[in-house]
Amino acid sequence: MAFAQAVQSHTDTIDRKWWKEAVVYQIYPRSFKDSNNDGIGDLKGIISKLDYIKSLGVTVVWLNPIYSSPNDDNGYDISNYRNIMDVFGTMADFDALLKGLHDRHIKLVMDLVVNHSSDEHEWFKQSRSSRTNPYRDYYHWWPAEKGKPTPRYSFFDINSDAWKYDSLTNSYYLHYFSRKQPDLNWENPKVRTEVDDIMKFWLDKGIDGFRMDAFQYVAKDTTFPVFPPGYEKNINKYYGMGPHLHDYIKEMNTNVFSKYDIMTVAEGAGSTLEDAHNLVDADRHELNMAYHFEGVDITNKPGGYTLLDLKQVYTKWDKDFEDKGWLAIFMANHDNPRMVSNFGNDSPGFRDLSSKMLTTFLMTMRGTPYYYNGDELGMTNIGFTDIKDYRDVAALNGYKHVVNTGGDVQHYMQELRVRSRDNSRTPFQWDSSENAGFTMGTPWIKVNPNYTTINAADEDKDPNSCLSYFRKMVSLRKVNLVLVYGKYNLVDADNPNVYAYTRELDGKKMLVLLNFTAKDATVTSGIDLSKAKVLIQNYTTPINQNHLRPYEAIVYQMN
Ligand code: NOJ
Ligand code: CA
Repeated sequence: MAFAQAVQSHTDTIDRKWWKEAVVYQIYPRSFKDSNNDGIGDLKGIISKLDYIKSLGVTVVWLNPIYSSPNDDNGYDISNYRNIMDVFGTMADFDALLKGLHDRHIKLVMDLVVNHSSDEHEWFKQSRSSRTNPYRDYYHWWPAEKGKPTPRYSFFDINSDAWKYDSLTNSYYLHYFSRKQPDLNWENPKVRTEVDDIMKFWLDKGIDGFRMDAFQYVAKDTTFPVFPPGYEKNINKYYGMGPHLHDYIKEMNTNVFSKYDIMTVAEGAGSTLEDAHNLVDADRHELNMAYHFEGVDITNKPGGYTLLDLKQVYTKWDKDFEDKGWLAIFMANHDNPRMVSNFGNDSPGFRDLSSKMLTTFLMTMRGTPYYYNGDELGMTNIGFTDIKDYRDVAALNGYKHVVNTGGDVQHYMQELRVRSRDNSRTPFQWDSSENAGFTMGTPWIKVNPNYTTINAADEDKDPNSCLSYFRKMVSLRKVNLVLVYGKYNLVDADNPNVYAYTRELDGKKMLVLLNFTAKDATVTSGIDLSKAKVLIQNYTTPINQNHLRPYEAIVYQMN
């Protein structure tokens, strides 16, 4: 195994960990593979594709939530944390999936969604039933006789209002996400004990870690102070890293994490570099890593991102974490548009090249890469133009909000077309048969019609496909520790077209050249390439040294 070989050549100066050397493959179960033709992906479907997953070379799978859920937010609203969602299968299916992954030396990381539960969870049913119910304090309630609570913003609410009035007990409850996702009250030690027990339940089954959903938001100032106007534009600052957050994570670490060999990754990293360090630095005994949003947020800018923005963000974070702490590296997931559409160029002439270029970037940066299912095929945004095609609660409620407030619906639809989360949630494109081989039924969300040309079966046969390139990039990373731990240095920093950097470890040096544009570009690296060896490139024709063709990507070994 690559890991065992690497161990022999390892340097004593680096703090080696399996989760740092991992390549994480994210599976969105609803859209991966449907085994029973009800139009919804399921666990048996994933099981049927285990050999495909293995063939990618990835070492960890992160599975989006598969627990019982009324699916207001596709599983991020959990009604039973110890059960499998009906449409996904049974606990026996889950056990078989875990075994199938472990038999193939792939670890499994699960989503832990405990900032909120579903309003259909038994805790919430009890909690809302009376003010004196023992579960009342599992959630945040505000008695209406005190007047209206201090405003809080909700991501998914039709009115953007995070307080929902409930006449049953004449009180408001808090929900940062949809009305069907009431926030749990972490200030209540009983809630924290429940969460510890849930984590132990899954860890004792043998899973290998948690991706902690919306975790920076769990701790709240329950006096609910007034935030300054415009606070909702900087949610992470006002909602994130609340009082006692670190106490709670330390408690989880002592009670649970420290007893298992697992990886823990926080969604969100606060609003400063210091926040992020406080979550993940090893001597803090909290979490292993976090993913910050700055890398994907730059694409929200009107007119799109510039390469200089991208370099600035990644260089800043890398420099700040080079001695301490560890980060996740990602360009897409189920909450973002498709990688190639968002950061590359999904037009027919450049989709393949730019997708491979972005894969090269992710697999040669320091940090643990998280790669979203379907990106290995170069899958693209679907760009629905009819609101009826959307399924995401964020899109649908956002639409109603715009309509109700007399906003610019056309502009909103334009935004959705490019930014909606449904872009990355369309079914995985397995082959060119009907519905891309995802289902023989009616898919829960439309299949991207480009499946006839972009699909795993065709790409598997083609040594120059995005899929084949991804496999090569993964194995390159796995056998070159320099790509995991090596020092990162930006080269030709102000070049607006080319992202160039070196990675160095134990005297071994690599140079990565990435043309982020659809035009020829030059790079002034100041590095003598005469003895350099090309490890991988995304063109099949010879390289012309410092001149890069559109979206060209090259990794050189310098010595
Ligand atoms: C972040 C998840 O990634 C997203 O899909 C979800 O809607 C929210 N958290 C709420 O759980
Ligand atoms: Ca199914």
